[in-house]
Amino acid sequence: MTGALVQRLRSTAATLTGRVRLPSRPLAVPPDPSLKAVPGDPGLPVIGHALGTLYDTLNYGRARYERFGPVFWGEVLGTKIVTVLGPEGMEAIAANRDKAFANQGAYDYLIGPFFHRGVMLMDFEEHLQHRRIMQEAFTRPRLHRYLDAMNPQISRGLDAWRPGSRFALYDAAKRLTLDIANEVFMGEPSGPDADRVIRAFIDAVHGGQAMIRKDVPGGIWARGLRGRRVLEDYFRERLPAHRAGDGDDLFSVLCRAVSEDGERFTDEDIVNHMIFLMMAAHDTSTITLAMMGYYLGRHPEWQEKVRAESRDLGREWITYDDLDRLESLDLVMKEAMRINAPVGGLFRQAIKDTEVLGYYIPAGTIVSAGTYGTQRMDEVWHNPDEFDPGRFASDRREDKVHRYAWAPFGGGAHKCIGMYFGTMEVKAIMHQLVLRHSWTVPEGYHPPIGYGTGPMPLDGLPITLS
Ligand code: HEM
Repeated sequence: MTGALVQRLRSTAATLTGRVRLPSRPLAVPPDPSLKAVPGDPGLPVIGHALGTLYDTLNYGRARYERFGPVFWGEVLGTKIVTVLGPEGMEAIAANRDKAFANQGAYDYLIGPFFHRGVMLMDFEEHLQHRRIMQEAFTRPRLHRYLDAMNPQISRGLDAWRPGSRFALYDAAKRLTLDIANEVFMGEPSGPDADRVIRAFIDAVHGGQAMIRKDVPGGIWARGLRGRRVLEDYFRERLPAHRAGDGDDLFSVLCRAVSEDGERFTDEDIVNHMIFLMMAAHDTSTITLAMMGYYLGRHPEWQEKVRAESRDLGREWITYDDLDRLESLDLVMKEAMRINAPVGGLFRQAIKDTEVLGYYIPAGTIVSAGTYGTQRMDEVWHNPDEFDPGRFASDRREDKVHRYAWAPFGGGAHKCIGMYFGTMEVKAIMHQLVLRHSWTVPEGYHPPIGYGTGPMPLDGLPITLS
């Protein structure tokens, strides 16, 4: 059975179960009468709302928002989750002014066994300390060097793209970004060793997305744990050489990074951060790139604008300063990330009794601030389901309505540290791609969308590449 068919079956099941309307119950009775109880329902026995949240995420969120308002709860595979939708709610969670929310409890549950001790799974003082050191690997001069290393790798990768009528754009983008990661993150050329690491890495990522979250032999979870061990061994083996060398790859840079206060990472920190960084960088950039490709295929007028600006630059490899000159590419990237937020939500756990938008959230509750739903809200955006990059142009700036209306990189203390890196990588690839190829998608084609870190195409995203 093809991925697309499986997805169609899943979303039909999700739509059908989504129609089951159980009576609303409060999540918990607020101790303070000025606070409201979070409305919602547990969903079906055992699975709860798993089908809706995983396979029909947008419609599920919209239906719950309509019924309950911006804060509601449901159960997913036995865990109660409060969802918050809308820019005000996003801000309350991301800014975390009262320090009532922590990342660790939420992300440990979701991806902890595969990505533990990554910077996103740390909180407060410890998080700040690690982030200060890591920041040294993302300074402007560093980004310049990563781009220098990336450009030839992009050229080599694109050399292998063969025009055809069913060119799987998502799959090709995935391969390309992984090869770039080898070069720029690990300082290793492609080869059998790199392939082994890529496989282990993909297994670890899939582990976090497993429905059966137990170490059953042969299962997705077990494969993920094995992948994690391979990655740990790989980075540990190479650590001494990277510490001793003077490489410009991210791995070497993290080995040498020193914060302004003179703090450095231990060997274990570097292994954990490298594994997490690969994950954080990879699917996000791939999804963004693939979805931009899809929209440019559907909207040839935008593809032409992007190509014309790239041609005007007059060079095959962009420099860091060129990034701001590719205005249409910037609008298209923003719009693709608005429609399909590559990270669909921010997960937190309440570590004390608190409130969001006047709703009572008891300590221990897992909360998800829905970027995907918020960036597709009627109240915030004009025709939110339509691809309209001009909405970000200086004469419209629809995103100005609220600072969290458009927040694909999150916000607050955990705001994406790789925002400039990811933007640079996607633009550097797209620039070379539009100079080499043009492409279309068949009339009426919409990729089936599943849910990983966020919404993602499930059919490899076939385009006609010329
Ligand atoms: C289009 C690409 C990307 C998108 C949309 C994206 C999105 C995000 C979001 C929404 C968060 C916040 C999660 C939260 O608060 O719960 C985040 C965090 C993070 N991202 Fe990205 N990301 C992208 C690319 C990258 C890249 C390329 C890197 C590394 C090179 C990276 C590294 C990280 C790290 C380390 C964190 C955790 C930061 C912290 O907790 O302090 N990301 N990203």
